[in-house]
Amino acid sequence: TATTSEDLVELAKRRGYFFQSSGAYGGVGGFYTFGPQGAALKGNVEDAWRDRFAVAEGNMEIDAPTIMPEPVFEASGHLDGFDDMLIECPECGESHRADHVVEDNTEYEDAESLPIPEVEEVIAEYELVCPSCGAGLAGQAVDTFNLMFATNIGPGDSDPGYMRPETAQGIFVEFPRLKEYARNQLPFGVTQIGRAYRNEISPRRSIIRTREFTQAELEYFVDPETDEPDLSTVADVEVTLYPASEQNEEDGEEIRTTIGDAVEEGIISSPWVAYFLGVAKPWYDAVGVDMDRFRFRQHLSGERAHYASDCWDAESEVDGNWIEMAGFAYRGDYDLSKHDEYSDDRFTIFKQYDEPKTVERATVDPDMSYLGPEFGGDAQAVVQKLDDLAARDRAAFEGDTVEIDLEGETHELPVEKTRFAVEEQTEAGEHITPHVVEPSFGVDRLVYTVLHHAYREDEVDGEERTYLDLEPEVAPTFVGVFPLQNDEELEAQANEIVADLREVGLSVTYDDSGNIGRRYRRQDEVGTPFCVTVDYETVEDEETTVTVRERDTTDQKRLPVDDLAETLSAIREG
Ligand code: GAP
Repeated sequence: TATTSEDLVELAKRRGYFFQSSGAYGGVGGFYTFGPQGAALKGNVEDAWRDRFAVAEGNMEIDAPTIMPEPVFEASGHLDGFDDMLIECPECGESHRADHVVEDNTEYEDAESLPIPEVEEVIAEYELVCPSCGAGLAGQAVDTFNLMFATNIGPGDSDPGYMRPETAQGIFVEFPRLKEYARNQLPFGVTQIGRAYRNEISPRRSIIRTREFTQAELEYFVDPETDEPDLSTVADVEVTLYPASEQNEEDGEEIRTTIGDAVEEGIISSPWVAYFLGVAKPWYDAVGVDMDRFRFRQHLSGERAHYASDCWDAESEVDGNWIEMAGFAYRGDYDLSKHDEYSDDRFTIFKQYDEPKTVERATVDPDMSYLGPEFGGDAQAVVQKLDDLAARDRAAFEGDTVEIDLEGETHELPVEKTRFAVEEQTEAGEHITPHVVEPSFGVDRLVYTVLHHAYREDEVDGEERTYLDLEPEVAPTFVGVFPLQNDEELEAQANEIVADLREVGLSVTYDDSGNIGRRYRRQDEVGTPFCVTVDYETVEDEETTVTVRERDTTDQKRLPVDDLAETLSAIREG
């Protein structure tokens, strides 16, 4: 059954899924607390993600800090480029995302990729108004706003730090150590599940756009020259794709195909991205995303993040809108090259040749002291740069000058001063910068989608009921146990059953308040797949049996108590 988000948000609050944080102090936009059911559902989704993307794929998992020092974000490009467009209302002073104001009120669907002057023009042309107070916004300047939360590390302000805007940087900066754990063998993957922070200008739609959220990310490092994924395991996975080329057509359509065909026909250009889309689709299905309301959409060129050369989003349909649940980006060597350039460590991998090779190598005179103070006196750094360049690009030395980048600035050196020379050397291998393929999942948006797609309304015994059709694998409470009435004997038996079921690892709730119908309704709304009721037959009959009620059908069966734990565990394990 379709639902509106308002119904869901209300149910989420009533039943302990999620609610706005710090309500006692008026609440603050963009921060949500997951209640007892929500925290359990989110934890189950995270466990399912870990099982599939870390354990089953043989990838490592790490847990890095959420605050990182400024140089990390100088290198990653977030300090300069992680901005949204902000417009402030001249009347009420509220700030809004200028691209959202445009998208919500005009036919522009991708205003984020427009240059600022054009956004200002559209606002004036359409006479757009402030979403809060209705005052005209024409003529108001659009500004950029960096989304990172800034802080200081230690007292004073000499060491600025930032809350990480993506968990990914915690993986990239540790690459020099992680590659050792991978024994310097590509390909390898590193995962992380953790919080990310973005000071969104206008958080909206409950947990869909918040200022603190959880990402589950995999950074997969490959040798772009030689590594190929094994597509055989995902080739037959059926997918709905919405490539950029179709989006650019006026009557562009989604394409239903298989992962194998999409790669063969060049619809998905990176086989690695295709591989992870093929892994992700059945996984989304298993945790409860409705596959009729699911697609992969390719980013338009203006929409891609500063680091990505191609990106496909996993999208789910919610109330008639498509929301981005995950991005599958080809990040190339962007991040590792940047950290290599900006830090003192090496972000490369030594790739051994099958046989040692005799190569002509350019070398440079290590005495660079004559280069002068404009290089900060750091002759060694200059030598290192020239050395790297000589190894990579001999042609760079063919003109009168040679260019090197040092601490973000480009310097031109006269070639004769580099004392360039060519020597024959035997080399065992070379340093390469791996490329990165990144499946990046938003956990909060997935939890929202799972709840939304599970929301059902029907009629039972002439009464309306609401229930959540959650997959047993992720349902926060697996079974409710009730004594039929307040009776010592029934309660004792019910408590014994609770203990038995908890012992086999099932999540159980005990409820003896209200009539049995109300208790069933409560568990239906929570999405509890089974309820077990202990009645007089249980305690009086020779064979001890209980009533087991199934959530979706409301069918009831009698089962021997002795079989209960085993039967229910088997269902939970799928
Ligand atoms: N490391 C890549 C990266 O961070 P992204 O597309 O910016 O890529 C990945 O974010 C996912 O994180 C998104 O697909 C979305 O599910 C989630 N996400 C991003 N911003 C969010 C926000 N403000 N609130 C909730 N989830 C968000």
